[in-house]
Amino acid sequence: MTNPTFDDGDFLDHVETIRKQWEHALAGNSSDAAVVPAGAMPMYFQDDQAPAFHPNPHFARFYPDDDCEHSVLLVRRADKPKLYFHREASFWYQPPSLPDWAGDAFDVEEHDNEDALMKSLVHDLADFGRVALVGPAESYDLNLPLAAVNPKNVVNRLQFARALKTPFEQARMREATEIGVRGHLAARDTFREGGSEFDIHMAYLAASRQQESKLPYPNIIALNEHAGILHYQHYDRTSPAVSRSFLIDAGGRSGGYHSDITRTYSANPGDEFDDLVTALDEKQRAAVAMVRPGLAYVDLHVHMHREIAELLARFKFVRCSAEGAYERSITDKFFPHGLGHLLGLQTHDVGGQFVNEDGDIGEPPERFPKLRFTRPLETDQVFTVEPGLYFIPALLAELADSEAGRDVNWEKIEAFTPYGGVRIEDNVLVTADGVENLTRPAFDRLG
Ligand code: GLY
Ligand code: MN
Ligand code: MN
Repeated sequence: MTNPTFDDGDFLDHVETIRKQWEHALAGNSSDAAVVPAGAMPMYFQDDQAPAFHPNPHFARFYPDDDCEHSVLLVRRADKPKLYFHREASFWYQPPSLPDWAGDAFDVEEHDNEDALMKSLVHDLADFGRVALVGPAESYDLNLPLAAVNPKNVVNRLQFARALKTPFEQARMREATEIGVRGHLAARDTFREGGSEFDIHMAYLAASRQQESKLPYPNIIALNEHAGILHYQHYDRTSPAVSRSFLIDAGGRSGGYHSDITRTYSANPGDEFDDLVTALDEKQRAAVAMVRPGLAYVDLHVHMHREIAELLARFKFVRCSAEGAYERSITDKFFPHGLGHLLGLQTHDVGGQFVNEDGDIGEPPERFPKLRFTRPLETDQVFTVEPGLYFIPALLAELADSEAGRDVNWEKIEAFTPYGGVRIEDNVLVTADGVENLTRPAFDRLG
């Protein structure tokens, strides 16, 4: 991601929207300005190599490019932000160059060494009363006249506001979707040609034109029973002797914004596992269609548990009724994660459990402690809807040991365990009168 142009015209509006959010956030702490470092990656222990750089998301929301290590923003109430751009001359690495859009959006000062940058920043801070630092404080020599480091009353307001995406952010997320879907289509084809997990992974990277270190999260490329390992992280170099199923959870990034997409395929179209994929796909679409402002995501999650119960009964994984499978918490062993989460600069974006800008937490129901998203739905939120139904040996063993285990059709479960499981994940945008599915139209357009 080097110097994107952002020629869709929304960027300056975006910066102004974010600046106003900061003005409000800083007022919560009576601060006049904030120092927002992009950050820098520490080296591995006793090494001269570092992991891939991930900028401070508070910086990234203003500055949508990764090539910004050691740069700093000074966010000022009632003024445009000032960018202290770090560009050190080097013959080891290519120094970053200042994008045109940065010059339009910020007052810019360029520095070729960090000491000079800090000196200038400290000099400028003398103009302000209270100043907050919002970012990875540990990478800075805090010999700065700062009032507060990551004050909760500033950060909570920023994180609460981050759930609502500006038109600029929505455009980035559409691009991130398109990038991911190109990879998904190539991955599906490589699976159908008999490729190994590694082959599929490489096909994904090539078709989505992403390098591994820039992915939004590590690709989950799971053949057969590996689909039952929720964050399966290996890429087997050889194809399995028998191909049964394929689950891929992989996304794209644009301007730092993520997509987060999952599809599941049967190796034998028309078999019963394929029917299960289709049935879950229908339930996922129906759940997406229920999205509208004001809906409680917790209710959608509970609705999906009842739907998973219906599948367990319909496919005869249980001998009891769907109602019984839900009431006796049998579904919890087949669908052990939350229905979804906010999405943005982070795959599991922040603020999903905030019920207000003060950061008061909406606790998930006791039965579903993993649910990351408990706040009511609002226009311009982007989040995932990702039901799953898995055959996970460790959870099934717990079920077998419980009283509810008597209602389970263990022969059927044994037959399906080698398929791992099913997950279908789309990214959706809440609109004033309902919902826009960002993912499905990209598959239709590019597929
Ligand atoms: N890819 C991680 C998740 O779906 O939450
Ligand atoms: Mn995912
Ligand atoms: Mn997800």
